[in-house]
Amino acid sequence: MAGRIRRMWDALRRPPVRMSLGAVLIIGAVSAWVAWGSFVYVIEETSTNNFCANACHEMNISFAEYSKSIHGHNRTGVTATCADCHIPHTMVKKVIRKTEAGFTDVMGKISGVIDTPEKFEAHRMAMAEKVWADMKKNDSRECRFCHDRKKMDAEQQGSMAQRKHATAVEQGKTCIDCHQGVAHNLPEEPEPAPAPDTTAPPAEGSAAPDAATPPTPQT
Ligand code: HEC
Ligand code: HEC
Ligand code: HEC
Repeated sequence: MAGRIRRMWDALRRPPVRMSLGAVLIIGAVSAWVAWGSFVYVIEETSTNNFCANACHEMNISFAEYSKSIHGHNRTGVTATCADCHIPHTMVKKVIRKTEAGFTDVMGKISGVIDTPEKFEAHRMAMAEKVWADMKKNDSRECRFCHDRKKMDAEQQGSMAQRKHATAVEQGKTCIDCHQGVAHNLPEEPEPAPAPDTTAPPAEGSAAPDAATPPTPQT
């Protein structure tokens, strides 16, 4: 056993075929090129709409909604792909995001968290909140990859858009703060808490009934 390992080690150290440095460099460069090409191929093939929409049937709902949205079907035929909005456009960030998605999506697939339309709806708010949080954190970077604030012609926009866009940055607002649901249906609001029973007379010493209703959230 020890003898065999030793022989293998010797063969590695002193290969029986002698090669010139040039040949070693060329073989190294070709291998690196093939490895890089395969890597890029896998990244690109797993970032197409076809892969994102069909690799898991769970994504059929997202794809159907997207296909009817302005980003999937419009007058000019210029559209955004799933990856355009959900995966960073630079290589390092892209690989990090895809590794992360590989873990969460494969675990999700195995555990079946969203494998029926009902489960998908029940989980939609949580999934959407994750996307919103990421976009808030990076100033809607993926949106801005296509929509450049500086290149927007305010004069061609509606008056509401002009007003909002003019002050958005100084108010610390990013695209996703105002434009949610640009490719999918929005999650349903959770059911409001049942209204307090106003028919029963307030108990002695208790506050007025409307003090029991939760405050309306500030928008
Ligand atoms: C790949 C490029 C691309 C990306 C990424 C992208 N968009 Fe768009 N978006 C477009 C195009 C193209 C249109 C115009 C479609 C048309 O009207 O022909 C558009 C239209 C819009 C509109 C106008 C909607 C309307 O009803 O007129 C809004 C708002 C918008 N995008 C917001 C966003 C937001 C928010 C994001 C990020 C979550 C985003 N976009 C990401 C390309 C993109
Ligand atoms: C403070 C809120 C706010 C922010 C932040 C904001 N928008 Fe808007 N935007 C609006 C409103 C309001 C409209 C007009 C109503 C609509 O089309 O939804 C609008 C309209 C648009 C339109 C359609 C313009 C038209 O007249 O056809 C596009 C495209 C758009 N926004 C893209 C963006 C992008 C990209 C960002 C981030 C760089 C952004 N918006 C940030 C509020 C905002
Ligand atoms: C224009 C940008 C854009 C495109 C294109 C897009 N998405 Fe989204 N996606 C979003 C945003 C923004 C959210 C967060 C919820 C919202 O605002 O609708 C989201 C949310 C989701 C969610 C969480 C569930 C939900 O509905 O909120 C899934 C899953 C998803 N997208 C998958 C996809 C798939 C698959 C595609 C391609 C078929 C796609 N997305 C194309 C912007 C986009």
